[in-house]
Amino acid sequence: MTRPMTFDRRIKIAPSILSADFANFGAECAAIEAQGADWVHVDVMDGHFVPNITFGPATCAAIRPHVKGVMDVHLMIAPVDPYIEAFAKSGADVITAHIEAGPHIHRTLQAIRGAGARTGLAINPGTGLDGVESLLDMIDLVCVMTVNPGFGGQKFIASQVDKVRRLRALIADRPIHIEIDGGVTPETAPLVAAAGADVLVAGSAVFSGGSVSDPAPYGANIRAIRAAAEAAL
Ligand code: DX5
Ligand code: ZN
Repeated sequence: MTRPMTFDRRIKIAPSILSADFANFGAECAAIEAQGADWVHVDVMDGHFVPNITFGPATCAAIRPHVKGVMDVHLMIAPVDPYIEAFAKSGADVITAHIEAGPHIHRTLQAIRGAGARTGLAINPGTGLDGVESLLDMIDLVCVMTVNPGFGGQKFIASQVDKVRRLRALIADRPIHIEIDGGVTPETAPLVAAAGADVLVAGSAVFSGGSVSDPAPYGANIRAIRAAAEAAL
């Protein structure tokens, strides 16, 4: 079951459970939300589109009852279309597909909307904004990758900040979120917030130092990223 989502440009922190304890997703999701997370970011990888494998719709469905807020599912898979219905049924609020994942991204976005979820369009660091412009009327979120997708804990690619700035101008007053994914820390969050991003995904920078039995560091990490981002606005 998906939940109603309202739109605003306030900074939202979306911890990626790629950095959570894989044997304890339910408790990890509850812990990050209790510690101030706005959205829960779920990284789906297929070992084909990206060189790593995580999990599929069954895991998303199992996580769903433990997530009170927005479940933000990032599909790093190709092909995408055969799996959209299953991810929508798993309760994803946002389903994000990569522009690089196939030749028919327009059809993919139509299918995501048709399945009742919000549409996300992810773009890799090597991809420009050319293809985004003609899709603006059918997306709810653009995910700008600030690492090459596949792994947590990689270094932020600073050349993407200017792309975020240009994307923000392109979006103008449309209700489209700009999400940043990869290498977000209290040091890099201000750069992308100032450029116009509102959803900050963070894996290692949220989960480092904490655990389900000691979740307070999650809260401190989330507050540090949020404060740094908000200070740049
Ligand atoms: C990368 C994933 C990211 C990743 C972010 O392929 O899409 O969501 O988990 O991890 P950090 O914040 O550690 O770079
Ligand atoms: Zn992601």
